[in-house]
Amino acid sequence: MSEQSAKLSFEGKTFDLPVRVGTENERVLDITALRSSSGLISLDEGYGNTGSCQSRITYIDGERGVLRYRGYPIEELVEHSTFTETAYLLIFGELPTESQLSEFRGRLTEHQFLHENMRHHFEGFPPNAPPMAILSAMINTAGCFQPDLVQPSDDEHFLETVARLMSKVRTIAAASYKTSIGQAIMYPRFDLGYGSNLLHMMFSRPNRSWEVDAEIARALDQIFILHADHEQNCSTSTVRMVASSQANLYASVAAGVCALWGPLHGGANAAVIDMLSQIHERGGRVDSFIEKVKNKEEGVRLMGFGHRVYKNFDPRAKFIKQSCKAVLDKLGVHDPLLDIAMKMEDVALNDPYFVERKLYPNVDFYSGIIMRAIGIPVNMFTVMFAIGRIPGWIANWREVRMNPQGRIYRPRQIYAGPTSRAYIPIERRGGS
Ligand code: CMC
Repeated sequence: MSEQSAKLSFEGKTFDLPVRVGTENERVLDITALRSSSGLISLDEGYGNTGSCQSRITYIDGERGVLRYRGYPIEELVEHSTFTETAYLLIFGELPTESQLSEFRGRLTEHQFLHENMRHHFEGFPPNAPPMAILSAMINTAGCFQPDLVQPSDDEHFLETVARLMSKVRTIAAASYKTSIGQAIMYPRFDLGYGSNLLHMMFSRPNRSWEVDAEIARALDQIFILHADHEQNCSTSTVRMVASSQANLYASVAAGVCALWGPLHGGANAAVIDMLSQIHERGGRVDSFIEKVKNKEEGVRLMGFGHRVYKNFDPRAKFIKQSCKAVLDKLGVHDPLLDIAMKMEDVALNDPYFVERKLYPNVDFYSGIIMRAIGIPVNMFTVMFAIGRIPGWIANWREVRMNPQGRIYRPRQIYAGPTSRAYIPIERRGGS
């Protein structure tokens, strides 16, 4: 990063602040030394204007709708790559050679089983436990079964623990689904790819194996690629925050799962289906729902719309919309929710409320319709997002831990509570 500087004048003094420039010419005011030189700190609730780190992993240009992993455009990766290869790229920084990829695949296959004792943990959850809760808890549980690996000490160690985590997350996800519907947990197969194996473990039964359709498996693989990383979003920032305290990889990723769960983040894919289903049940009246959103009635938002960074279009949403139509055609499914979604998109994109605020469909707007058509239940949608996001979380965890200048993440605040006051004994506190 090359350096220029900006000047800040305050109370008759001038302070020089370095301006750093990223490899894509993004200019950043470096305020690291601002407090020690001027006594001032910055305030930016929601971090909308704060660069929390320097990262070499993912680049987004929200104004132009650009998304690149390690320099490679998302459009090229989704067309030519696989989730396993993209995961390797994100985590290790370069596309793998044939032998590196085959070794990585081999490790993913080798480590797909859970320790048999982990089955008892699944039995301890109540029948309707949310799969995101199970996923987070069981990632930490999986870490307990390999304590020597959760804090990898060298490259070989790291490769091994990455393969274990990525592979087991898929097995845990399927097992959490099976547990939630009271069916037998299925073992993974050695002859299936990453996404196909997940579908097999979710939909096969001991007495009936589920035929994995190659086109559907590819569509799921592409969904995973599109979700694999997205720079400093809420869950990735959470993973980095936890990693900065030197917490282990499994604990950091489990925290990421919890952050992803919320409806403003990964939980939006399930919230979109809930929203579309409600509109459908009430006669498909899109216009009246849009009016409700615009009037901000009861805080209703158009779920699957808007993004903190994308102010033009979300390149992931473009692809997912196409894929949605292709998957539904392939499966011969006609989903009235797709019709409602397309109508809503059309109405919103021509309405000044959404146009002025630069609100476009995001990755979650159509992904749920694809997953629903495949037969994935709504409460598993965000788990699917989490499986896709694992490589990004791992890559960010590693970046934090490999940073020789790294410090614990510890933001400051502006205190707005009461000033100092004397303790009041309970008998003198009054009240009714
Ligand atoms: N529907 C209606 N109004 C919206 C929406 C929406 N989906 N999103 C933003 N707005 C309005 C908001 O009310 C505000 O209006 P005003 O200026 O009148 O107060 C303005 O647009 C700016 O909104 P904001 O809340 O300051 O924007 P943000 O950058 O803090 O929030 C967001 C980004 C994604 C949380 C938000 O757009 C949202 O809630 N979207 C719906 C949930 C969703 O789809 N989330 C998935 C995000 S993409 C995948 C992921 O990262 O997980």
